[in-house]
Amino acid sequence: MLLTDHPPILETRSCSWPDESACAAFASRLAGATTLFPSTFIALAGPLGAGKTTFVRHLLRALGVQGRIKSPTYAVMEPYEVQGRTVSHFDFYRFSDPREWADAGFRDVFAMPGLKLAEWPDNAAPALPLPDWRLQIEPMDTGARQVTVHALTPHGVELLDP
Ligand SMILES: Nc1ncnc2c1ncn2[C@@H]1O[C@H](COP(=O)(O)OP(=O)(O)OP(=O)(O)O)[C@@H](O)[C@H]1O
Ligand SMILES: [Mg+2]
Repeated sequence: MLLTDHPPILETRSCSWPDESACAAFASRLAGATTLFPSTFIALAGPLGAGKTTFVRHLLRALGVQGRIKSPTYAVMEPYEVQGRTVSHFDFYRFSDPREWADAGFRDVFAMPGLKLAEWPDNAAPALPLPDWRLQIEPMDTGARQVTVHALTPHGVELLDP
């Protein structure tokens, strides 16, 4: 068998977000779908300014998070408690030291139920578990975003058709 660095992709969907309201609508649908399950892990890929944090903000708002939603670029993780659930927003942009993974207690966060959302996931591989979705956001010249969802787990496939 040929070994590769990449997990098998179970299913792929593509769409376009012409503007931020399309991103908000998508985030809201996903937010609703995740409330039906104890744990979901979404990895968010794409270049600087693609709209990863924007997507997470819309998703958190849809879940009912009020107040300021900070980008966790410096803290690496921002935790939220909403409707009795833990939601953890990670940004691994500045993450480089694997020891930080254990020291910061991220292993425990991923071992607990809850919704986990991670920007720049490749910077924390191989410590990260397999995400249910890898959501790739690519800005187009027009300002629209080309979006690709790779479902990497059976749960991720379930989330494709909420
Ligand atoms: N679908 C969209 N259409 C047009 N503009 C968008 C869309 N989504 C986000 N934007 C805008 O693009 C910018 C994206 O910034 P954001 O901080 O979300 O990017 P990011 O991917 O998190 O970047 P970083 O890698 O630095 O964390 C915001 O100004 C937002 O308003
Ligand atoms: Mg961001």
